[in-house]
Amino acid sequence: MNKRDLLNFTDVSRVEMQAIFGLARELKRKQKQGIRHELLRGKGMALVFEKPSLRTRVSFEVGMAQLGGYAVFLGPTEIGMGSRETPADCARNLARWVDIITVRTFSEKVIEEMAEYASIPVINALTDLYHPCQVLADCLTLIEHKGKLDGLKIAFVGDGNNMVHSWIEAAEKLPISFAMACPKGYEPKAEIVSQARQNGAQVAVTHSVEEAVHGADAIYTDVWASMGQEMEAQRRAKTFRDYQLNQRVVAMAKTDAVVMHCLPAHRGEEITDDVLESPQCIAFDQAENRLHVQKAVMVWLLNGFKSSKAKGLKGRK
Ligand code: CP
Ligand code: NVA
Repeated sequence: MNKRDLLNFTDVSRVEMQAIFGLARELKRKQKQGIRHELLRGKGMALVFEKPSLRTRVSFEVGMAQLGGYAVFLGPTEIGMGSRETPADCARNLARWVDIITVRTFSEKVIEEMAEYASIPVINALTDLYHPCQVLADCLTLIEHKGKLDGLKIAFVGDGNNMVHSWIEAAEKLPISFAMACPKGYEPKAEIVSQARQNGAQVAVTHSVEEAVHGADAIYTDVWASMGQEMEAQRRAKTFRDYQLNQRVVAMAKTDAVVMHCLPAHRGEEITDDVLESPQCIAFDQAENRLHVQKAVMVWLLNGFKSSKAKGLKGRK
């Protein structure tokens, strides 16, 4: 069976990414105009979440409902992944009841095992290593604000974490360049950087904020301690002190640069309150676009792109 998953961007082509953005824009327009677009009528999705969430959970659940399907949420205390049940068995059970599984977990091993054993598509809703749905929503938001992705420089200030890994993978497929500034010891994984560079991505990793942000069209940041790293939060707060996204850093970028954050934000840590609240900041547009881009991803994985046209995005009122 030829099912597809979205675990990261390795197997996603540039053409598919562009098609996701196109479909997401179309679905967003339909939704804003109140035009029905139930492309997944009667389809079910299981949301398996081993970490907290606001944006991802709500946008997937609401998105599936708008597409005419339904979602079943399984939170951190429910399945007992790896203790009560193996990821493989969990996936094989879910595949008998629903059509798609969306997973937020810690290790790649869990989500890879689920994808291997599930006969249905599996979507990565954040792991320690990647957050592909967020980066797709971010790219859609950049297209809306900048008119195109071509030639944009994205500068990331902070930790070489899951957000950064997905951005680096995206830079392999999309016509953007990516530069990050982080403290020593907090660089993104070397194998992800080298793989992307081998495939032609323009990726720079530096310890100088000024170097990374110079000439940037977008400046991005994320929490210094990700979910699962709470014990390190105090130590990281000291280490990352010089990597805060504040007005001084914003001034290093292009004058029309936008400020981005995947949220949740820790105001006064990785980003100052005034920068997060400034008109340059598009963080809430990014959050909104999680809904539209994930709807496009679900339609793609369940129907393919051709059938989404055939199945009538022409839709009824
Ligand atoms: N950005 C994001 O994924 O938010 P949540 O953790 O709230 O889902
Ligand atoms: N790097 C953060 C992203 C949250 C959306 C985390 O993993 O907690």
